[in-house]
Amino acid sequence: MTISGYFAPIKKDEREFIARACETEKHVTILVLDPKVFFIKLLQKELDGLPVRLETGDKPKGTFLSHTPASSLFDLKDAGEISLKAIMKNNRLIKKLIKPMMNEKRYRHSVSVAETAKILAESHGFDPKRAYRAGLLHDILKKYTEEENDAILTRYADSHLSAPPQIKHAYTAPYFLKEVCHYDDEQVLNAIYHHSDGESEDILAKILYIADKREPLRKLNDGILEASIADLEEGYALLRKNVERYLEEKYGVTGVH
Ligand SMILES: [Fe+2]
Ligand SMILES: [Fe+2]
Repeated sequence: MTISGYFAPIKKDEREFIARACETEKHVTILVLDPKVFFIKLLQKELDGLPVRLETGDKPKGTFLSHTPASSLFDLKDAGEISLKAIMKNNRLIKKLIKPMMNEKRYRHSVSVAETAKILAESHGFDPKRAYRAGLLHDILKKYTEEENDAILTRYADSHLSAPPQIKHAYTAPYFLKEVCHYDDEQVLNAIYHHSDGESEDILAKILYIADKREPLRKLNDGILEASIADLEEGYALLRKNVERYLEEKYGVTGVH
């Protein structure tokens, strides 16, 4: 039996639920998703040996971002049936998952990117639900510190260690989603990976790139979103040029996004 959820920290009633499960099941593995820590912590009980043992890949760092109880993510009674994999297929539950991982402004941005990506997807024959999901998830690690992002990059993609700090979250999020959340939609992961650099020719990657840079809360109103709804390639080309120009003016460099 596997119970997946967000327990930070584990509370008395949650512990009792686990204890009951331990009495009836031979093996109980509880995957604990702590948004501030990259690694899954395994609480394991092998019939005897209560209280449950906490095994961590890494010690929790910093303070927890939220005290959202697990019961708000899903009803603990049903926890045995709900896996993270199932959560990742449901945009409503994904919203609950990401909310404690970001501040209010970032959360509103993420939902707005999701809604914009959905509109673009509908206009260009792409699955709107998957586009919406990419929008919800794209900034999931935005709140990680550079040190935390570097820890992930060192392990999975060290060629990006020299990337500008503000875009590292794009390169680390796919590894977090794969390793921690068991999320395996490669097209969505690729779009998230390139949401800052814009360097993917894939349709969803272009949709997400445009949605992230031109979602309505940014109030840029320069017609690029409308152009992209009418013609994705044209809108994408306009945006790339616009971003290049902006970076050149701001930093005097090209090719860094
Ligand atoms: Fe981002
Ligand atoms: Fe974003």
